[in-house]
Amino acid sequence: MNWDDTADTPADERPPVPPAERLVGSAADREDQAVEAALRPKDLGEFIGQEKVREQLDLVLRAARARGATADHVLLSGAPGLGKTTLSMIIAAEMGAPIRITSGPAIQHAGDLAAILSSLQEGEVLFLDEIHRMSRPAEEMLYMAMEDFRVDVIVGKGPGATAIPLELPPFTLVGATTRAGLLPPPLRDRFGFTAHMEFYEPRELERVVHRSAQLLDVGIETEGAAEIAGRSRGTPRIANRLLRRVRDYAQVKADGVITREIAAAALAVYEVDARGLDRLDRAVLEALLKLFAGGPVGLSTLAVAVGEERETVEEVAEPFLVREGLLARTPRGRVATPAAWTHLGLTPPGAATSGNGQQDLFGT
Ligand SMILES: Nc1ncnc2c1ncn2[C@@H]1O[C@H](COP(=O)(O)OP(=O)(O)OP(=O)(O)O)[C@@H](O)[C@H]1O
Ligand SMILES: [Mg+2]
Repeated sequence: MNWDDTADTPADERPPVPPAERLVGSAADREDQAVEAALRPKDLGEFIGQEKVREQLDLVLRAARARGATADHVLLSGAPGLGKTTLSMIIAAEMGAPIRITSGPAIQHAGDLAAILSSLQEGEVLFLDEIHRMSRPAEEMLYMAMEDFRVDVIVGKGPGATAIPLELPPFTLVGATTRAGLLPPPLRDRFGFTAHMEFYEPRELERVVHRSAQLLDVGIETEGAAEIAGRSRGTPRIANRLLRRVRDYAQVKADGVITREIAAAALAVYEVDARGLDRLDRAVLEALLKLFAGGPVGLSTLAVAVGEERETVEEVAEPFLVREGLLARTPRGRVATPAAWTHLGLTPPGAATSGNGQQDLFGT
């Protein structure tokens, strides 16, 4: 049977959904921002994982230092919480240069950008977060600034307006984006080095957890760190957040040391299961399996079934479910994979019922 409904609009053509307050959400909340500053690795040596990016960036920066030159412009792309802001600060630190931080949405007019550019010092790093959200006129000004270290400042209005060229000191632009595909090619082409950040392996996240636990002065056993790492969706920000919640639990319910059992019990309280799915993720999967026999079912129908907006299901729950190989988006609708049935401990209709033991999702 097919429960398909409306045609799907590509996600890029709709406004983004505001980040939901979830423990496994990848956007930074206010508490994160305060703690993140303290947990940020300060140089490339401290930065965990992303071996390729680290090696390449190390070469770019070393060579620039050896030449006594300003480093080439760097574009950092990747999902939220993977370390783009952290790397931008590391680039400045490694170059011994000051850093100026701004973002695409903060630059409304080309004049805003001109003011920032003209006040840069030689060698300074300009970090432009969410660079894909810059206005068109600012973007065009940036092309010239990146390539020729020059901007044209427009003075006056209408036919009497004149462009006054302004020389800029050499600087390094570090752009960050979660949506590299949305960058216009002329902008992308002006970066000398593009680093695509991947999701982290559980073993790398384990190291992130150990490092953060040490900085937060929390006792943790190897299996405790592994338990947290395995539920962190490949994302250091989530690993750090889960660590803080587990620490709370360990303080209140035990002697403060994080063991595997404590980590599993704490994350069961917060409804983050053994694979890192939270309540919303599981509600979506459960509806797909139990109400629609695994699909295919249309996105809107699925959203109604779990009592959420379709955008929430599509942008908050689905990307991770797809990445984990639990759900597939097909032209006929959403379909559960065999792994989804296994994960929820359910048997697909028509499958032989050969002693399918209920899986302990929380690992307790
Ligand atoms: N490689 C890493 N090693 C250790 N900690 C890391 C690493 N990458 C990120 N972190 C930690 O994860 C947190 C989030 O990183 P960061 O803010 O750099 O992510 P981001 O990619 O800029 O996210 P966003 O797209 O939301 O801006 C920081 O607290 C940082 O300490
Ligand atoms: Mg950032």
